[in-house]
Amino acid sequence: MDMATHLITDIARYDKGKQTFIIAFGGGVVGDVAGFIASIYKRGIPYIQVPTTLLAQVDSSIGGKTAVDLAQGKNLVGAFYHPRLVFSDIKFLKTLRIKQISSGLSEVIKYAVIKDRQLFLYLEKRYKDILALRPSSLEYIVKASSLIKANIVGCDEREEKGIRTILNFGHTVGHAIEAASNFKGYNHGEAIALGMLVAGDISTELGLISDIEIQKIENLIKAVGLPVKIKNVSVAGIINAHYRDKKFIGQRNRFVLLKKIGETKIVENIPLGVIKLAIRKRI
Ligand SMILES: NC(=O)c1ccc[n+]([C@@H]2O[C@H](COP(=O)([O-])OP(=O)(O)OC[C@H]3O[C@@H](n4cnc5c(N)ncnc54)[C@H](O)[C@@H]3O)[C@@H](O)[C@H]2O)c1
Ligand SMILES: [Zn+2]
Repeated sequence: MDMATHLITDIARYDKGKQTFIIAFGGGVVGDVAGFIASIYKRGIPYIQVPTTLLAQVDSSIGGKTAVDLAQGKNLVGAFYHPRLVFSDIKFLKTLRIKQISSGLSEVIKYAVIKDRQLFLYLEKRYKDILALRPSSLEYIVKASSLIKANIVGCDEREEKGIRTILNFGHTVGHAIEAASNFKGYNHGEAIALGMLVAGDISTELGLISDIEIQKIENLIKAVGLPVKIKNVSVAGIINAHYRDKKFIGQRNRFVLLKKIGETKIVENIPLGVIKLAIRKRI
């Protein structure tokens, strides 16, 4: 919130009443804050996203979700506000640390798992090229992922029709892991990788998908340098954080689960015992 206050003051200082617009040049944090400021300054001014991390290129710059954090929680103040343009150039990715590439890859794996088996096969075959930042491979995954997200968001802009929900695959438990570790233990992609595996394990527990499919996902997650085991967080810590999640309505839980790689199923009211069992399996 502090960053947002500074930014809005600076814009007001330099805004001379011309057609002021914002360019959000940076990672997901910059994109989220700049987008939020664009949505509220003078009740909305145009903005452009120029994402410079893999995560921002494949995910956060698309979809119009903008937000800032409060001491009371992440993303508590925000708005749906689309950029006029998203300009992604894979050249920006050259200077990223490998951990940030892996973190972005977690969301790419998510898209493949929820919607695109072909992309999953590509990742299995080409993950080494991607980690070596080979331009043709980066281009392929940024394009494929952006299209998947844009298509889903295009069908359900404000998350009202339940279509956008599948983008939350891995995020229910992933967010809980991030919160339970005070946002220090894991970066977003790492927490989401663990969340995807827990969601996968719940899916096998409910008989929706075979173990072999989940093993393939685990192998890919491991291969790109993401964690497959939850460390330094307890089952109780994750469960408590999970029930504090702002998306909860009463005590009802709602998970995006898997029928196969490329196909999801949304299931509500999963018994707590099943969720705990799946988390315990990853600890
Ligand atoms: N709005 C959405 O729909 C959405 C979706 C997913 C995530 N997010 C948010 O995005 C944030 C995570 O985004 P992120 O992973 O991009 O993190 P980030 O913005 O914190 O960037 C990670 C680090 O990389 C640096 N960086 C940025 N570009 C670089 C480059 N080209 N070379 C070297 N370093 C560079 C940044 O300064 C920062 O230190 C989280 O706050 C998350 O909540 C939002
Ligand atoms: Zn995410």
